[in-house]
Amino acid sequence: MNSSFSISMCLIDVFREEGTGEEFTNRDKRMIFTNPKYGLCKIAYAALCICVGLSFSQTLFGQSNDQRLRRLLEQYGVEPLDPGGGHTEHRIALGQALFFDRELSGNRDTSCATCHHPNLGTGDGLALPVGTAPKNPGALGLERIKGTDREFIPRNAPEIFNRGSSLWKSMFWDSRVAEVADGNFTSPAGGQLLPGLSSSLYIQAMFPVTSRHEMRGLDGDLTFEGDVNELAEVSDKDLPGIWNAIMSRLLAIPEYQDMFLSAYPEKTLQELTFADAANAIGAFEIDAYTFLDSPFDRYVAGDNSALTRREKRGAILFYGRANCASCHTGPLLTDQKHWSLAVPQLGPGKGEFAPYDLGRYLENEKPEDLFAFRTPPLRNVAKTAPYMHNGAFNDLRSVIRHHSSPWFSLLTYRPRRHLEQEELWETVLQDWQTRFWLAITLDRQNLPRHLSNRDINDIENFLHSLTIPEFETRLQATIPESVPSGLPVER
Ligand code: HEC
Ligand code: HEC
Repeated sequence: MNSSFSISMCLIDVFREEGTGEEFTNRDKRMIFTNPKYGLCKIAYAALCICVGLSFSQTLFGQSNDQRLRRLLEQYGVEPLDPGGGHTEHRIALGQALFFDRELSGNRDTSCATCHHPNLGTGDGLALPVGTAPKNPGALGLERIKGTDREFIPRNAPEIFNRGSSLWKSMFWDSRVAEVADGNFTSPAGGQLLPGLSSSLYIQAMFPVTSRHEMRGLDGDLTFEGDVNELAEVSDKDLPGIWNAIMSRLLAIPEYQDMFLSAYPEKTLQELTFADAANAIGAFEIDAYTFLDSPFDRYVAGDNSALTRREKRGAILFYGRANCASCHTGPLLTDQKHWSLAVPQLGPGKGEFAPYDLGRYLENEKPEDLFAFRTPPLRNVAKTAPYMHNGAFNDLRSVIRHHSSPWFSLLTYRPRRHLEQEELWETVLQDWQTRFWLAITLDRQNLPRHLSNRDINDIENFLHSLTIPEFETRLQATIPESVPSGLPVER
């Protein structure tokens, strides 16, 4: 603006010198603008007017956009997110080893990283995960092939970014691990849960190892080296028995003994439990996968230039007319509540109503929670396909479209277009009864109604601004060279 102002002053000076040297009269001005000698000047003047006009309107528009967006962010309580964490290096190092070590799985063929791999955006790149006893242990993503006598895990493996924030109360798509009141938690273990676990994230880490299809294996399984899988022999009901058996396994490895004792200097080997392992895993997850420097986060922290104009337009839609923030709200971009979006049902299903997965209803049996799943947080969402609780969609546009016309999206759903895992195609329930149940349980009221193609583009642009810079390299740096068991590390 300043420079355009000074240029126009210069131009006026030029006119003055060419004129009488005194104040312009109207005649002088007419003379200047009709004289062909001043043709170039006229073009320059017109160009200047356009430039000044443009930069002025841009400043005005930009300012009002930022003001609007900041008002909306304030309205939805979007503030910089607290990272959590603050664990010792020793505890984080132990957690890293445990997270990548297949020793935690009965058959020694599956680690946490199998389904939450840094190269796959802390997910597994699959709609539904392939758990223990795959045909080819060590392969990741689409290359990991399910064993013939095994089932797919019924739900999509979520990303695990930024779970250290004290705002997180719930874990899993149905919040079956959750903080119910300060310091009190519910979990599938009920009274069997070990003491010493202080957040839902740490408690969560107790469960994958107990699940037969995810990590523990079936009774009678042999490890891939041909040994007896002693973890699978423990009864399903005896959770402490399972956790003890894993600890015996881990503490038989001298390097783990040292790592545990450094991570918990106040304890003796006999006092250690799997809760200590879970706490260390949580410490690693927070340390490795908390990133709060996406363009969106930098904008929230106060930098107006962090988002492009198109991203800001998308954000204004997200927090405004499209109403996304009525559920994807606050610093976590989730209300941690459960909604039914009529997502097509697919996969083996869960619990007594399989092949359906009734979601939150399985936990509380409230009819309003039929087919309802926890609103997912959206940081780095552009990198964490497939989407939804069962991976029913593999691109963001389809997800946004599904939100704005769920009924139409459900009716026109084509498994071959959205599911890369061919084995899942025929599991999609497309009968009229299922569609009917999904349609009548749909939570329609807060979903956006009319999104144009341009709206969808803008929202998609905004969702991309939730991705951190150098995503791949920073995530890859969290993979250890080796783990104490000596088993191979997936890369
Ligand atoms: C075979 C695949 C698989 C393995 C192995 C696995 N997970 Fe998961 N993980 C999942 C799936 C699927 C879910 C969602 C399940 C649900 O919501 O019912 C999940 C959920 C989670 C969540 C909850 C995120 C949230 O916000 O709800 C965390 C954290 C997590 N896993 C960490 C771990 C850790 C730590 C390990 C190792 C101890 C592990 N996972 C092993 C598939 C896996
Ligand atoms: C009524 C609450 C609600 C509203 C409003 C809402 N969402 Fe969602 N969103 C959800 C729930 C619940 C899911 C998961 C549904 C499932 O898996 O069954 C979800 C899933 C998603 C996912 C997939 C994320 C993942 O990791 O799988 C994206 C992306 C998303 N929403 C973006 C949006 C956008 C953009 C808008 C606005 C156009 C929006 N949402 C509006 C509740 C909502």
